[in-house]
Amino acid sequence: MIVVTGATGTVGSRVVVGLRERGLAVRALVRGGSAGPAEWDAGVERVAADFTDPVSLDAALDGADTVYLLVAVHPEMAQHERNVIDAAVRTGRRPRIVLHAAAGVEYRPEGVRFVGSHVTGLDHLKDSGLPWTVLGPNGFHQNFLGTAPTVKAGHLAVPGGEGAVAYVDARDVAAAAVEVLATEGHEGAVYTLTGPAALTHDEVAEQLSAAAGHPVAYAALTPEVALDGLLNMGWDRWRAEGMVELYGLYAAGLASTVSPDVEKLTGRPPRSFAEFAAEHADAFRA
Ligand SMILES: NC(=O)c1ccc[n+]([C@@H]2O[C@H](COP(=O)([O-])OP(=O)(O)OC[C@H]3O[C@@H](n4cnc5c(N)ncnc54)[C@H](OP(=O)(O)O)[C@@H]3O)[C@@H](O)[C@H]2O)c1
Repeated sequence: MIVVTGATGTVGSRVVVGLRERGLAVRALVRGGSAGPAEWDAGVERVAADFTDPVSLDAALDGADTVYLLVAVHPEMAQHERNVIDAAVRTGRRPRIVLHAAAGVEYRPEGVRFVGSHVTGLDHLKDSGLPWTVLGPNGFHQNFLGTAPTVKAGHLAVPGGEGAVAYVDARDVAAAAVEVLATEGHEGAVYTLTGPAALTHDEVAEQLSAAAGHPVAYAALTPEVALDGLLNMGWDRWRAEGMVELYGLYAAGLASTVSPDVEKLTGRPPRSFAEFAAEHADAFRA
């Protein structure tokens, strides 16, 4: 039995579908009252549980052989990862844990809270004695759907400096996860999941422009202006500050390495940003 957490989200929902396409038994963790995405078939076992509720996690992980551990970005996300790992230990079955973390987690970058939370989770996982594998995706193509309102108006306004980023498509992250969950031989591996090329945000803007059919110019925001903008949009401060920290890492060129791991795992090259932009052209068109 493979238990999928974060199962209703961007990556997890596709992981559930991919595992079912392989005919595997899947239990999807949903929060109370959620039926899960419409594309799940009737064979997906749904279990109501919450990362903050250890009793619910015990029930969700009962009988698990493998656990896909994906938590949402949240101030308590490290604790959420620890709670799932502790519940996995309590099963007494030593399930394999596939931790969905973030690129760079093994290098322990300073001052980037999202990655730092995954570092804490990974340390706890290693201490647990459970068999583990780590998936470290770079920033998702899908994040750019959040910039669509300003891209429609001709601007890509992010604090990315001049750094290049090897963004990855969330669908390729899910496909890589399915392969790791469905097959053996991944214990102790850290897979870094990137797209096929590193792009500066000038290049991202060019590709959005080509897809949308109107000029899109990159406006490199300062961290201060970016933070104010996110707070004015209603983001909570922890998350907004974290996003600006992450873009600081991007601006420094620390997310520019292209990894072969998506192709190694899925057997096909990762989708390019140009493909993503073309598929979502309607979202970016003025
Ligand atoms: N976005 C990126 O560029 C990027 C890059 C690298 C790594 N990551 C990592 O990817 C993860 C986010 O993945 P995603 O974008 O697929 O997530 P997502 O779409 O935000 O989905 C989060 C999932 O977690 C569930 N969830 C939230 N709080 C919960 C709780 N208290 N108890 C149980 N379930 C809960 C949500 O359920 P509901 O549907 O009920 O809310 C949903 O299924 C984060 O760990 C992040 O650090 C993201």
